[in-house]
Amino acid sequence: MGQDIRGKIAYITGGSSGIGKATARQFAKEGIHIGIIARNPDKLAKIKEALAGYDVNVVTCSADISKQEEVKTAVQTLEQQLGKADILINNAGISEYGNFQEMDEETWKHIFEVNVFGTYHMLKEVLPHLSGKQKGDIFNISSSNGLKATAGSTAYSASKFAVQGLSEALMQEVRTDNIRVFTMNPSLVATELVFGDELEEQNEEKYMQPEDIAEYIAAQLKLNQRIFIKQSAQWATNPF
Ligand SMILES: NC(=O)c1ccc[n+]([C@@H]2O[C@H](COP(=O)([O-])OP(=O)(O)OC[C@H]3O[C@@H](n4cnc5c(N)ncnc54)[C@H](OP(=O)(O)O)[C@@H]3O)[C@@H](O)[C@H]2O)c1
Repeated sequence: MGQDIRGKIAYITGGSSGIGKATARQFAKEGIHIGIIARNPDKLAKIKEALAGYDVNVVTCSADISKQEEVKTAVQTLEQQLGKADILINNAGISEYGNFQEMDEETWKHIFEVNVFGTYHMLKEVLPHLSGKQKGDIFNISSSNGLKATAGSTAYSASKFAVQGLSEALMQEVRTDNIRVFTMNPSLVATELVFGDELEEQNEEKYMQPEDIAEYIAAQLKLNQRIFIKQSAQWATNPF
């Protein structure tokens, strides 16, 4: 038998767009209280409004996860207004593609600062919540690029391979505290990250939708405490 997830508290980074937003909506439907961290206050206000009809507490906080002090303050705010986390969804991330020699150092480093150090900062602040409860769930959203790199993605792929390694090692460390670390590796999902402003033009029959990933996250959470999916890859059935 699985477990009841209603009433749990989840912190989601990047919960104002794409996969994070769909996950926030899915969690609201499932009765999970939600704390969202992202940068743009307008987008945060919109998701808060969209979730107002659900019987859950929703707290949003504007912070740049690449900055440790901002993450510290944001997590303190979520803790005060929502309670300590049971679930952490390390989802916020950026991608930029380009030939290795052509991508400037600043851009290359920034991708690491958000995707890798952002995840690190969140884990540093939130892991004590889970350790204190001797139970909890962490989802790190890596990418298919974190398993198999592609030309033009040296920074993004390297950052997602780093998330993979961080997750694998952390998983071994914290499972003895009953903390489950799930690493997910989606292939192309129809979000702003991929389609930018042309999101409307994407083909819903062909491409995975953020809601698909959100449903899978919720399904994994409901697994009996004795089991977790340490690593999974999400592929579109027929994107050709
Ligand atoms: N879409 C795909 O095909 C795909 C495939 C594999 C993996 N992924 C991964 O899935 C995750 C979510 O991607 P998505 O496609 O849903 O992207 P998205 O629609 O662009 O959403 C990204 C979210 O992250 C937030 N964010 C970005 N930089 C941030 C920062 N420095 N600090 C705090 N929040 C930040 C954004 O809000 P603000 O801009 O307001 O901060 C937004 O809420 C990423 O880690 C991505 O690498 C995506």
